[in-house]
Amino acid sequence: MKSYLDISKEKLDALRQRDDYYILAFESSCDETAVSVTKGREIVSNIVSSQIEIHRRFGGVVPEIASRNHALQIDSLTKEALDAASVGLKDISAVAVTYGAGLLGALLVGVSYAKALAYGASLPLIAVNHIKGHVAANFISSPRLQPPFIALLASGGHTYILAVRTFDDMEVLGSTLDDAVGEAFDKAARVLGLPYPGGPEIERAAKCGKPVYKLPRAFKGDKRLDFSFSGLKTALINTVHGMKQRGEEFSVADVACSFQTEAVGVLVDHTAEAVRRTGIKTVALAGGVGANGALREALSLRGAVEGFDVLLPPKSLCTDNAAMIGVAAYEMIRLGAAPAPLSLDADPSL
Ligand SMILES: Nc1ncnc2c1ncn2[C@@H]1O[C@H](COP(=O)(O)OP(=O)(O)OP(=O)(O)O)[C@@H](O)[C@H]1O
Ligand SMILES: [Mg+2]
Repeated sequence: MKSYLDISKEKLDALRQRDDYYILAFESSCDETAVSVTKGREIVSNIVSSQIEIHRRFGGVVPEIASRNHALQIDSLTKEALDAASVGLKDISAVAVTYGAGLLGALLVGVSYAKALAYGASLPLIAVNHIKGHVAANFISSPRLQPPFIALLASGGHTYILAVRTFDDMEVLGSTLDDAVGEAFDKAARVLGLPYPGGPEIERAAKCGKPVYKLPRAFKGDKRLDFSFSGLKTALINTVHGMKQRGEEFSVADVACSFQTEAVGVLVDHTAEAVRRTGIKTVALAGGVGANGALREALSLRGAVEGFDVLLPPKSLCTDNAAMIGVAAYEMIRLGAAPAPLSLDADPSL
């Protein structure tokens, strides 16, 4: 009798040259439970259930609470995603799931559910790296996009400038040496008394402010394309604490604007430098911080001035969703990815 893995390999091989089949995809790496049906680079249905309201009162994501809510939601969201796509499990050809990076317990819910479903329905399972998923969001909004391109991945847990040569060959040109940029936005918001998640709050406050505080840039004059957002965060904390200690009045909007201006500035400067160094003239934005209006505007403007194309996925595809995981799986299948075995485990630090 053929094993599950052998059957999966045969089924995947039959899909390699096609783009007309459905993938059922799962994403549960942090505080969004998301299920999607995709076909090629198209979204057929995309259900995202955010737990932001649940975690807000704690000022950040509580891992155990996130896992429990994923477990409560994932089954009904799967039915919802299939219904919204007007398909049944019998119409699905492959299952995709985020297996890392992220919170271990949260990832395990998606991985266990996807494995059980794939095995039960005798479908091949594709294990997707969350970061590659964020990059793949660009294939949805720009269906004709082909590598090579530069990806600026700015999210809650990661900050990378990637040279995407093919979807399975991404060179890291720059990365953060400490905090991710989204994490820095969240911490800056907390210092300013703004709620979680901080990114959208900082953006909102910054709209009414001016960048009057000069915050330092790490590695100034250095040739590296790396980032240090911990230094920026500390400078912001020191500026705010100093003003409070001196009893000075200050505008939250001005501090938020100064922080955002510097964070966006360094992302855009390093990305433009990556374009110059590689000669690759297409930049794709990805990750939750990619929803930031100031970043989108500054990157587009730089592209117009320096002659590179800037791709901006809709904001809803920058933050976590399962459609990007389904489309990443489709690209992986085309490139010959092997099916995941039933021993697949979550990998929080992938
Ligand atoms: N408009 C915005 N401006 C700035 N930051 C934002 C905005 N919207 C969301 N963010 C930030 O994006 C982050 C969430 O993005 P995302 O969902 O991609 O991260 P994650 O999945 O937690 O981390 P990762 O993808 O690195 O594993 C949070 O830090 C949030 O503050
Ligand atoms: Mg993410």
